[in-house]
Formats: sequence, C-alpha cells, structure tokens
Amino acid sequence: MPLLRLVGITKRFGALTANSDITVAISRGEIHGLLGENGAGKTTLMNIVYGLLQPDEGRIEIDGKPVTIKSPRDALALGVGMVHQHFMLVPDMTVAENVALALGGRRLSRSHIGEVAERIRELSSGYGLELDPADVVENTAVGVRQRVEIVKLLYRGAGLLIMDEPTAALTGPEWQHLSAVLRSLVAAGKSVIFITHKLDELFGVADRCTVLRDGSVVGESVVAETTKSELARQMVGRDVSLRVKHTRRAPGAAVLESRGLSLVDPDGRERLTQIDLNVREHEILGIAGVDGNGQRELVEVLTGMREPSAGEILLGGRRFQKLTPQEYKGSGGAVVPEDRQHTGTVMTMPLADNLLLKDFASPPFSRRGVLNRAAITDHAQALIAEYDIRCPSPAVTMTTLSGGNQQKAVLARELSHHPRVLIAAQPTRGLDVGAIEAVYRRLLEYRDAGGAILLLSIELDEILSLADRIAVMVAGRFKRTIDVDDADTQLLGLLMAGEDAPQPGTPVAG
Ligand SMILES: Nc1ncnc2c1ncn2[C@@H]1O[C@H](COP(=O)(O)OP(=O)(O)OP(=O)(O)O)[C@@H](O)[C@H]1O
Ligand SMILES: [Mg+2]
Repeated sequence: MPLLRLVGITKRFGALTANSDITVAISRGEIHGLLGENGAGKTTLMNIVYGLLQPDEGRIEIDGKPVTIKSPRDALALGVGMVHQHFMLVPDMTVAENVALALGGRRLSRSHIGEVAERIRELSSGYGLELDPADVVENTAVGVRQRVEIVKLLYRGAGLLIMDEPTAALTGPEWQHLSAVLRSLVAAGKSVIFITHKLDELFGVADRCTVLRDGSVVGESVVAETTKSELARQMVGRDVSLRVKHTRRAPGAAVLESRGLSLVDPDGRERLTQIDLNVREHEILGIAGVDGNGQRELVEVLTGMREPSAGEILLGGRRFQKLTPQEYKGSGGAVVPEDRQHTGTVMTMPLADNLLLKDFASPPFSRRGVLNRAAITDHAQALIAEYDIRCPSPAVTMTTLSGGNQQKAVLARELSHHPRVLIAAQPTRGLDVGAIEAVYRRLLEYRDAGGAILLLSIELDEILSLADRIAVMVAGRFKRTIDVDDADTQLLGLLMAGEDAPQPGTPVAG
C-alpha cells in the first residue's frame, strides 16, 4: 500500500487549470522525482499536499485512508513535511533555537534549548546531517541551512519529505552531501518527493519519477529504465540540447571595468579585495566560485546598490568612485539579480508593469504623468510571446507566476532595453531545460550583437558553455582569470576550493 496517494487532484486559479486530474502514488522508502516545465503545476500540487492550497477536486490518501489537509499543521500531524525553496530561518539565532522556534508552544528556555540541541545531535548523526546545534544560522552555508530545514521536519516526525527544487542554490559538493542524507532517510523507511529541473541529480538519487505537463501527468517511469533525453522530451514535448554552439569573437572595447575595487563591511569584514575586471563588447566574462565568496557583493557594488570602500568603476566611458543604481542604468547597464523576488521585481504588481519598471516615466508608456495602459499591455504582450512567459494575462501579479516564469520576466525586461552591459547572476536558476536552452541562445545572440556580459554562476557547466574568459572568485578576490579554452571542470573546481592549480603550459613538478 502506498504511503501517499493523490487521486484525481484538480486545482484551478480562475480560468487556469494548474493541476488537472492528477493521480500519483508514493511508496514508503522511495525517492520520487517530480519533473516538468516552468508552470507545469509541480509547486501547486505539493502545496496541496502540504495544506497550503485546497484542491477543487480529488482526494488525498495516507496509508490508504482519505485525509483532509487544511494547513501545514495538519500535514505535519500526518507525517508530511515540506522544505521550501526560500528557507524560513531566523539568521541571528542558532540552529537549536531555530528548531525550538519551529516546534512552537514552549518558551525558549535554556534547558528546553539544551534538550532540543541533544535531539538535533541524535538526528544529525543518524542521518548524516552534520549539524552543530550551536552554530548561528547566518554564519552557515546554504547547504547547512537546508539541512536545518530538514531537521526541523524530522524533529516533528515527518515520514514524507517534500523538497521543492532543493538544489537550485547548491554547489556540487553540497549536493553530494544532500543526496547522501536523502539516501539515509529512505534507508530508514522515510519517503522523499523531490522537485527538480536537473536531470543529472534525478538520476543520481531517485527511484521513480512523474512528469507533469500543463497540469497533467504525462509520464511515470522507473528512473533506471528511462533516459534523460526521454524525460526531457516528455517535459517539453520536443528534443532539447544544452550544448550551445560557442564561437569565439574578437572582443571590442571595454564597457565595464573596475580597478582596485574593495568592500569592507561595517563590522570590519573584508568582502571584496582589489577586484580588477573588464568586460568587453562581444564578450562574456564568467565568474566561477562557491556561493558566498563575494559574488553577491560584487554585483551590488557594480550596479550601484552598495558603495565600495575603495577603487573605481568605469562604465560606458565614465569614471565613478561611487555609482547610483540610476547612473548604472543610465549608462547602459542592465542586471538580472540573483534574488529576483527582492531586488528584481515588485511581486505584488502586475506582470505588465514589472516588464517595464524602468521606463515607466517616459513615452509611450506615460505622457505628462498619465500612464498609457494600452501601450504598457502591448509592450508586455510582445515580451511574453518573445520570451515564452507562461501566464494567463499581462494583468496578473508577479506572485502568481511560477518561479521559472518570474525569472524569464526579469530577463525579458532587462534585455529588452538593449543594454551595453548585462550583469547576470544565476540567470537560469529555477528554469526548466527548454527555458535554459532559450536563455543560453539569447545571451549568446546578445553577445554576438556586441553586448558585454558579466555572468555569475555556481553552475560550472553553464560558465564553461557560455563564457569567453573565466575569473575564479575565492574569499572576495579574483584568484585567477583564465581563457575558457584552458579551463575545465576539474581546474575550476581546484581553483574554487582555493588550491593553486598549475598554470596552463607550466610543467607540473615531480
Ligand atoms: N496563487 C495563484 N494564482 C493564480 N495562478 C497561480 C497561482 N499559483 C500558481 N499559479 C499558476 O499555476 C501554474 C502552475 O504553477 P506552479 O507554481 O505550480 O508551477 P511549477 O511547475 O512549480 O513551475 P516552476 O518550475 O517554474 O516552479 C502557473 O501557470 C502559475 O502561474
Ligand atoms: Mg515551482
């Protein structure tokens, strides 16, 4: 008998059917992958199982018995837990305090926290979580925070863990760790539902998988009996290739440069140290590095969100000691920020407005202070078609778009302004394989047309497929800049880990 069975689940949002008559069964002790294009209905379905949404039709059974799940509290009482993409942790509290907080009820007394810490240690060693209850969350890496979210659910006795794109922000080694944790969970009889766009990962851990398309189940497979290309075809309905044709171009003039750029936090921590970079026309400069090595700060300083402590920025022929976001944009700068929900968009505003944020004030969108709705809608409709943003209409708010479609909207807005330079941080995070293929094509087209791109990505394959030169960033410094022809995953991995790999062409001693 399956642990969880969804029978005929249908969920509508107005005229849109996000889930259509979905039937799926999850066994005890299995890792079940849930795949599908951006907007296919994966998160909606899991939000129903976790009690965040109510289905319009269908039923949920646990151990063969029909259940009603009206809230996450109901779900947890039935042994169902969910880890969201955006963690819900208090940064300046310890791991144990965060877990105690999630348990609710009792006051956070020292003795209670002591008990919680003890139980975390047991769970941690049982499942290989490697958590220290005394660590303060803000000082820990993304992978650790994710394991804190997992321990919160295990503490409350979850037997089924739902993970919505758990690896979008993880580096290779962090993913290795997570997959080992998932294996030990299922070895102990627990079950995992794992939403992902990354087929390599799916093949590394999952037993079975279900593919959704346009809200319906279009395939169910035993992972060992299918192939990546078969699954990709099921997802997007055609063949997909992520191998882009990368032809080199002679670079043109430098568009964005920095000299001696440094950033020291108010608490004295050095975030960026003496960064010299230049991004030229017809060129993609990739920045490879483990998350949290200053990439975010570099983007903030280059786009005028933060003032550097030293150094200067040259943009479009002008020299800036400090730059405002308006000056960055005014000088032809565009940015796809890493955190689209906070800095890229206004989530509560309509998609159409988000597709133009920057030129609200100018004709044809506004004349003498009056917005021209028709022009705004036309503009939005053109970008929605061009970038394949899946949505019911330009009038819906950003919050109702699926994660991947929000990302497409930000990219569409930024590139539609024909910028001179684009800073793109994790531009394909959360995108499905078909959408990634389209983004790669677009970035290369932009570069071929003379665009300059600074590409920050934790995906080494992405950097190696797109960049012309690659700078490896470690602890706020550029460790080395290499030509893509001299780079491979292994060399980048070594440099990112802070090791001194041999220079190309230099004989290795011994
Ligand atoms: N609250 C809502 N109101 C209206 N429409 C919604 C709402 N939530 C989701 N949708 C729509 O339902 C569809 C399915 O969205 P969902 O978030 O489940 O997709 P997904 O498969 O998780 O995609 P992604 O891979 O991009 O995360 C999308 O078209 C989305 O726009
Ligand atoms: Mg989703």
